[in-house]
Amino acid sequence: MTYLVTGGAGFIGSHLVDTLLARGEQVVCIDNFNTYYPPYRKRRNIAWATEQPGYTLVEADIRDAAAMEQVFATYRPQRVAHLAAMAGPRPSIAQPALYEAVNVAGTVTLLELTHRYNVQGIVFASTSSVYGRTTKLPFVETDSTDWPLSPYAATKKAGEVLAYTFHQLYGIPTSVVRFFTVYGPRGRPDMTPFLFVDRMVRGEPFILFNGGEELYRDYTYVDDIVAGVVAALDAGLPYEIFNLGNSQPVLMQHFVELLGQVTGYAPLIETRPLPATDPPITYADTGKAQQLLGYAPQTRVEDGLARFWEWYRVDVLNMA
Ligand SMILES: NC(=O)c1ccc[n+]([C@@H]2O[C@H](COP(=O)([O-])OP(=O)(O)OC[C@H]3O[C@@H](n4cnc5c(N)ncnc54)[C@H](O)[C@@H]3O)[C@@H](O)[C@H]2O)c1
Repeated sequence: MTYLVTGGAGFIGSHLVDTLLARGEQVVCIDNFNTYYPPYRKRRNIAWATEQPGYTLVEADIRDAAAMEQVFATYRPQRVAHLAAMAGPRPSIAQPALYEAVNVAGTVTLLELTHRYNVQGIVFASTSSVYGRTTKLPFVETDSTDWPLSPYAATKKAGEVLAYTFHQLYGIPTSVVRFFTVYGPRGRPDMTPFLFVDRMVRGEPFILFNGGEELYRDYTYVDDIVAGVVAALDAGLPYEIFNLGNSQPVLMQHFVELLGQVTGYAPLIETRPLPATDPPITYADTGKAQQLLGYAPQTRVEDGLARFWEWYRVDVLNMA
């Protein structure tokens, strides 16, 4: 079967591509290698994939409708995993139009093509950010998502709603997967594990919001997320929304202690108030994904961080 993975050179997308290739699928990866973080990291993410016979890389922008049409016409993908996005909640405040163009207009371009080229199923990567600052725990898929805290979260909500509309119009099996704070090897340099470890090995301080007190994140290991995405692609359910999280929120103070233990470096913490874009807690109810997809995250945060550190040591420190 031929899969199209957008954002396939990124953190999560590249792991998804590797998993699909490993089970013998044909995979077309679209990525524009933008400079949100250094593109050489994305080149390294796809190093193994580019050596596999089933792999095709298309360097193109999902906003380029003609280029996207060319991809669908040439490769005729049967399933699409749409992960390409501008992905930072805080940076989205400075560039809301860019986030809208990529995450909303780009998504519409792809949805339109999935219909015109008879794609059998699509999975759209959304985020726990759509839940905003809710006090109802854990987050359930049916909770309100009407109060996004950042342009990023609002664009992801828009993508979810558009995916629903296209499903209603054309009947393409569509799953929306809401990822909860993903971490692991190839982790994004703008996200906490990479940022903090980077500072720790340099002996530099880093900012921990609220000093890590009363701040929880449902850290979810990337392999568990990929297993959920693959299960959603395989299930081909008519239209469903799934939380993909670990369902075990980690106190950020504890998270930083763990990073210190795993790396052997002492964290130097500066504290600031939590920005308005960030909720104090994320916490996934994964019951629905368990029931309909057999989703069962396997990775304890201690083990996942050890694997992250191993990757960072070999792939980031040794390359510096
Ligand atoms: N990492 C997380 O914790 C997390 C949490 C919730 C949701 N998500 C979502 O998961 C998806 C993947 O996130 P990630 O963490 O792997 O981010 P990432 O930035 O590593 O990956 C996104 C990829 O998309 C590509 N891309 C961006 N704009 C593009 C465009 N216009 N055309 C083609 N390619 C483009 C980028 O070059 C990048 O390689 C995103 O949709 C993100 O919003 C991630």
